[in-house]
Amino acid sequence: MNSIANKVLNSFKEKFSNTPNVYFSPGRINLIGEHIDYNDGYVMPAAINKGIYYAVAANGTDTINILALDFNETLNIKITDIKKMDSWKNYVLSVVNEFVLLGKITQGFDCVFSGDIPQGSGMSSSAAVEGGLAFALNEIFNFGYSRVQLALLCQRAEHNYPNVQCGIMDMYASLNGKKDHVILLDCTSVTHEYFPFVLKEYTIVMVNSKVHHSLASGEYNVRRQRCEEGLGILKTKLGVQSFRDISSTDDIVPFKETMTPEVYDCCKYVVEEIARTRKAGALLRQHDLKAFGQLMYATHEGLSKLYQVSCVELDFLVEQAKTNTAVIGARLMGGGFGGCTINMVRNESVELFIAAISAAYKQKFSIEPEAYIMSISDGTARIID
Ligand code: GLA
Repeated sequence: MNSIANKVLNSFKEKFSNTPNVYFSPGRINLIGEHIDYNDGYVMPAAINKGIYYAVAANGTDTINILALDFNETLNIKITDIKKMDSWKNYVLSVVNEFVLLGKITQGFDCVFSGDIPQGSGMSSSAAVEGGLAFALNEIFNFGYSRVQLALLCQRAEHNYPNVQCGIMDMYASLNGKKDHVILLDCTSVTHEYFPFVLKEYTIVMVNSKVHHSLASGEYNVRRQRCEEGLGILKTKLGVQSFRDISSTDDIVPFKETMTPEVYDCCKYVVEEIARTRKAGALLRQHDLKAFGQLMYATHEGLSKLYQVSCVELDFLVEQAKTNTAVIGARLMGGGFGGCTINMVRNESVELFIAAISAAYKQKFSIEPEAYIMSISDGTARIID
């Protein structure tokens, strides 16, 4: 058994008297399609082998008891007292609150959790926390919700207590991942198809900048508002329903003066990124990874210059990747303002790449970055019962 699963199970046994189920809820990477899940785009995430492990059991009382091992903190709260709190508590309680709003939670539960997704890395530890608990409660109490319904519930939960107006990608990918497959998620219909992710001569390497700018969640909501504002204008001017109805940025140029520069740049980025993801799917199927890698660089450029969610550290990591002939594509991944870059690197050069980029980054910012070699896993599942 995985060592974290073991630790969670043993801690549960020490602290509580009942027998839990143990679950794994993965983080996610996203190959392409950034900041377009809430803009009716297509995204290409996959669940990863890093995630959150939960031990959970119903307790037949009116109280919820949670031990967050990584924070060494305990929360004991009556179901009727659930409210917005701080840090990790917001994520778990907001999920419980969504079930309460649906009239579902009638008794308490005991729970221990821990994980190995570096916080603030952009690999979505929050969605893994939310999805894992939602999945566990759904199973333990026989609520009968589908994985898609649970993903939508977790999205509402993230909007509510943590107040991050996120899209559906993270929780959807975590709950619906498939080993060695990428998910092509249509964020309008909230449906997906899988296709095999065969990299052959390449490896996905994440490089963690270890910076996490505190503006991240506020600025995220600002980007979402800019897009809504821009789309509102484009709907009336162009008669479109969504960004995906706009086939070229040429169509939006005439309306540049009707928007603030920030709103216009966000709209331009979204139209371009939707076009890139459409191309990317075809390229992956043809195994044209070099062309796919060029799209990754173009996405980074757009995220940095137009969408303005990068930072000097991430720009530096992507520039470094570009100078390395073993890398065919790199970009910041996730919400931005810190976290990881995702890099596609030739298999035989992975170690050299990690050593070179780590040394350059350390010299420039006096921060030791971390690098992770990714493997793609199944979505949230019970692993012990
Ligand atoms: C965060 C959000 C997602 C998505 C990404 C950017 O991870 O939770 O919904 O918008 O940022 O692509």
